[in-house]
Amino acid sequence: MQWAGLVPAGATILDVAAGGGRHAVFFAGRGHKVTAVDRDTSALAAQPNLEIVTADLEDSSAWPLPSRRFGAVVVTNYLHRPILPVLLDAIEPGGVLLYQTFMEGNERFGKPSRPEFLLRDGELLELVRGRFSVVAYEARLISEPKMAMVQRIAARKL
Ligand SMILES: C[S@@+](CC[C@H](N)C(=O)[O-])C[C@H]1O[C@@H](n2cnc3c(N)ncnc32)[C@H](O)[C@@H]1O
Repeated sequence: MQWAGLVPAGATILDVAAGGGRHAVFFAGRGHKVTAVDRDTSALAAQPNLEIVTADLEDSSAWPLPSRRFGAVVVTNYLHRPILPVLLDAIEPGGVLLYQTFMEGNERFGKPSRPEFLLRDGELLELVRGRFSVVAYEARLISEPKMAMVQRIAARKL
């Protein structure tokens, strides 16, 4: 929500691993066309401006949205490193990446604790280097909704 104003007016949004759709619904409510993808879309209710795609993002044989491009990609609390390049490619020039998930150090507070689910120090910065302009980046301890170590980035594609 803090960085939603970076998303160009009228941009299409991809909410990756959308879960209950808190971000998908938020952006649809702002008038954006939103595609929400998750392997379990049972908690997502149909509404105007919302396309619901049920797919396993960790099925390496097929990206569920081939050739689709978006004005913003939003990912929160999800990490599957093999699809990161695909997510960046799916953003149009001038479009925005909003990404927040857990990072190393989160093991102290519980799950996720396995390295494959935790960003390494500076990893989101490395991910976008040379291809995006970084608007905001944080790597920090948060206390709400629970104590956690997170990394978050807002970046615009060059
Ligand atoms: C912690 S939830 C985050 C949901 C949402 N992004 C949020 O922050 O409210 C993680 C989501 O990733 C989805 N997920 C996990 N593995 C997945 C996979 N292989 N393919 C698609 N979605 C997956 C889960 O179904 C779940 O909705």
